[in-house]
Amino acid sequence: AEDGYDLWLRYAPLEGEAREILAGLSLHPDVPDELVSDPTIAVAVAELERGIGSLIGESRTTPQTRFDIDFDCRNEDVGGIPGAYRIARLSGGDGLALTAPDSGGCLYGTFALLRELSLGQDPRVVDLVSAPAMPLRMLNHWDNPDGHVERGYAGRSIFDWWHLPERLDERMIDYARANASIGINGVVVNNVNARAFMLEPRYIAKYKRLADAWRPFGIRLYVSARFSAPQDIGGLETSDPLDPAVRAWWKAKADEFYRAVPDFGGFLVKANSEGQPGPQDYDRTHADGANMLAEAVGNRGTIIWRAFVYSETDETDRAKQAYAEFVPLDGQFADNVIIQVKNGPLDFQPREPFHPMFGAMPNTKLMLETQITKEYLGFASHLAFLAPMWSEVLEAETGRGGTVAEVVAPAGIAGVANTGSDRNWSGSDFDQANWYALGRLAWDPSLSSERIAREWAVQTFTRNPQAVETIAKMMLDSREAVVRYMTPLGLAHLMATGHHYGPAPWVCDLDRPEWNPCYYHRADADGIGFDRTASGSNALSQYADSVAARWADPQTIDREYLLWFHHVDWNARMHSGQTLWEELVREYDRGISEVDAMAEAWNGLAAAVDPQRHRAVAENLAIQQGEARWWRNASIAYWRSLNGLPMPEGAAPPP
Ligand code: GCU
Repeated sequence: AEDGYDLWLRYAPLEGEAREILAGLSLHPDVPDELVSDPTIAVAVAELERGIGSLIGESRTTPQTRFDIDFDCRNEDVGGIPGAYRIARLSGGDGLALTAPDSGGCLYGTFALLRELSLGQDPRVVDLVSAPAMPLRMLNHWDNPDGHVERGYAGRSIFDWWHLPERLDERMIDYARANASIGINGVVVNNVNARAFMLEPRYIAKYKRLADAWRPFGIRLYVSARFSAPQDIGGLETSDPLDPAVRAWWKAKADEFYRAVPDFGGFLVKANSEGQPGPQDYDRTHADGANMLAEAVGNRGTIIWRAFVYSETDETDRAKQAYAEFVPLDGQFADNVIIQVKNGPLDFQPREPFHPMFGAMPNTKLMLETQITKEYLGFASHLAFLAPMWSEVLEAETGRGGTVAEVVAPAGIAGVANTGSDRNWSGSDFDQANWYALGRLAWDPSLSSERIAREWAVQTFTRNPQAVETIAKMMLDSREAVVRYMTPLGLAHLMATGHHYGPAPWVCDLDRPEWNPCYYHRADADGIGFDRTASGSNALSQYADSVAARWADPQTIDREYLLWFHHVDWNARMHSGQTLWEELVREYDRGISEVDAMAEAWNGLAAAVDPQRHRAVAENLAIQQGEARWWRNASIAYWRSLNGLPMPEGAAPPP
């Protein structure tokens, strides 16, 4: 059944010339003796055989020419970057040479070759050189041990802690294959809001089983650790990171992990954030806490320490707090500590400017954290392809030593995983593309969204060129459409309380001021928007001068950040000659027509896509069409209750 379970690894049979060519070759993986027993090479060869068999389809009709695929996987010529590969014509023979410095490179090269073949490429002319842009390409699962996934919209957790370690669900292998195919090499298996008992020996045995299963696929396992574990499960009186007993406890705990999982990746920590315990409970700094854990794991692993911190005590601007807490600590973190920073200073909104910490800590390794699950973008029911959003942040020029992609290159990228036990893994067919895109961009941040959309669409849905064109266009326009009908012109955090689904810009009375949409839009009778310039919170001053200069003036700022940084009169004249109010309403209406256009385009694909997935996508688009209108109408009604303005001329009738 075409239920989406195979993801982008369907290897649907080729047709026409591409099929003739492939079917005419008899492909022989040629593995040197010393690699025959290497489990990663075994995975690569099995994938090659499976993929090619499936791409050729039923019967071979044409006569066969022998075509070797030469596995040369201990070759430093490719630059020595772990995971790099080169695929080129075999000199002096019919075939390809797959060259890599390590087995992982040969595995990634194999998947790259299969991707090329899936795209219809003639194997005789494949010529690729590639190396990952950053060492850590991770998924962070927000999966709880009871099977519930925090901010997960694809069903229950895929991790069956109940039956591990005795029973390993076959899905864990399919999951590892999917990740390896896009270069993911690290997985944090549990929620950042961690339960301490997941550090107990009974869980370590489960991790060992998973890590053993994933090792051939080049995936290292990481665990989220609760900072107060020494008290919660260790019987200590304190979790003070400078207390010798606490340090000894973590050291022993780390040793226990490494005895079971010799290549254990390390711990991910959310500390002093949203009620989680942390070093500040003892008047210690983030550096004290992170370095204590870094010492415990030593050169065996990494501590990934999150910068997502804010509290109700700072009333001026939540968006400023992470920078204020972390930047003064630059240079104090141990070498095996990475600070993980969300793409924007708030919280995974449909659009935020890049986080000002990027570039501001030249002596600290920073990693980019993104969210694949779309907590604030309509969950799994709204279509929003996120590659354009991630490229926007990766390509942002920090004004302090390069783009965000360059700043995080020594560390990596993490995506909050959107996997669940739904048949299609991600809650919707198109949400698979976001998992795919996260891996592809972590491997190569310079890949265009268009390229990623096209290659995903071909592998996932159809090779019909017109259909691919249509699908890619839908995907490329989709995120901007969501921005337009939810949070246009730089607005943010207008979602309903708690679950964050649907509009609630009118909520102003929650106890925590910074949880209120009113806190963010600051709309009143005169205007709307958050003044983050010198006359307001001055969050703008956290950016490099060159960046701040570009955003300081409401007349010249990029329109998409206008209300993020400025409070603007409803009647202010914009570049377009229209007032802010007129432009705002126009954005909502444009968002709706873009969703309508997506739905219409998809309807036209009924013949190109299998009926099961065609219907599933169409049903989601119908939901999105309705809910885009819900967002528009609710938002406009609320703004009008404040500004008393009439609907602009030409706009759809008032809600
Ligand atoms: C968001 C999300 C929480 C999550 C938090 C985090 O606020 O709503 O569920 O725990 O981010 O990133 O830690």
